[in-house]
Amino acid sequence: MDLAGIEIENPVLTAAGPTSQSGDALLKAARGGAGALVAKTICTRRAVVRRPNIACVQHGSISHGVVNCETWSEIPWERWLDREYAAAESSGLKVIASTGYTAEELVFLGPRVEEAGASGIEFSTHYISKDPLTIREVAKSLKECVSIPIFAKISPSTENVREVAKTIEPFVDGIVAINTVGPVLVVDEKSGKPLLGDRYGWLSGPPIKPIALRVVSEISEVFRKPIIGVGGITDGTDAAEFMMCGASAVEVCTAALYRGPQIYCKVARELEEFVKQGGHSSAEDLIGSALREREEMRERPEIEQNCTACGICERACPSGAITIKGKGKGDVSDTCTRCGLCATLCPVRAIA
Ligand SMILES: Cc1cc2nc3c(=O)[nH]c(=O)nc-3n(C[C@H](O)[C@H](O)[C@H](O)COP(=O)(O)O)c2cc1C
Repeated sequence: MDLAGIEIENPVLTAAGPTSQSGDALLKAARGGAGALVAKTICTRRAVVRRPNIACVQHGSISHGVVNCETWSEIPWERWLDREYAAAESSGLKVIASTGYTAEELVFLGPRVEEAGASGIEFSTHYISKDPLTIREVAKSLKECVSIPIFAKISPSTENVREVAKTIEPFVDGIVAINTVGPVLVVDEKSGKPLLGDRYGWLSGPPIKPIALRVVSEISEVFRKPIIGVGGITDGTDAAEFMMCGASAVEVCTAALYRGPQIYCKVARELEEFVKQGGHSSAEDLIGSALREREEMRERPEIEQNCTACGICERACPSGAITIKGKGKGDVSDTCTRCGLCATLCPVRAIA
């Protein structure tokens, strides 16, 4: 399939991060079924990263995602140009370089990564000003010095996402949304000190998915070029939700850390399954369906036959309206406020 002029094998790509930190890591992702390879961000200066730099945020068995205090690649840009991109390209997949951060740095690196064989460039707006005109000037500088497609990667803290997307549209071929969320602080309960080497870190994984979906949908309202969604994707349904909000492709970072490189193939296969089961002819049919308003819920929910009588809904109902009387049997009284919580909590989807 085509993504802003880049031929990709499937819509599930790697994201800039530890799982794309070198040519070797990218080759593993290619073997794991990624549709194209987005590499770790490089800059004209090597990154200095304080250890520890990645931590899993867990509560019991529930994973709340990952926090990190990485910046960009610790591998010098010269080595990326000499070896790492070539190693990734030997997989036969298209490689999208990620570069940062100032206009001068992008103009320096852009033509060089293009010459090294990159098929596209993602440039991070993480450390650029939040001002849309400044981001546009940076995009314009890069666009003018390369002939491959360029993508702006948007930070979730961007306040005026629609305005940024509209302002930069003439100078980019697509937008990637979102980067990590933060800054955040996690504490090591044993030492009583911050868990990461830097006091503050950045959050990724499932907790940031609703933020990412909102940002993607806002961009999609005003931006007519491809959007790549990223943030908390762990399965095909997550990928489908990003497409429903306007994305044409997705990237996966944290789930690849947890589950290994096979995740790309798994997400792509599950997305195909989701499309088939929904009776769509292709994943493209999903794009943008969640941009329409849903109808307001007017009816009280009903307990359906597949209810297992686990009682979760009865305990959670804020207005005490649910009484479960056995498997497949229950009443919803008129104190129900139609908040909808029960339907989303039910583990077997037995509340209509
Ligand atoms: C440890 C770590 C390092 C990252 N490094 C970069 C980076 O160098 N450049 C970048 O643009 N994004 C970087 N990211 C952000 C990811 O590319 C991605 O946008 C974010 O993690 C959300 O996706 P996820 O929930 O699938 O991880 C990094 C994320 C993590 C967890």
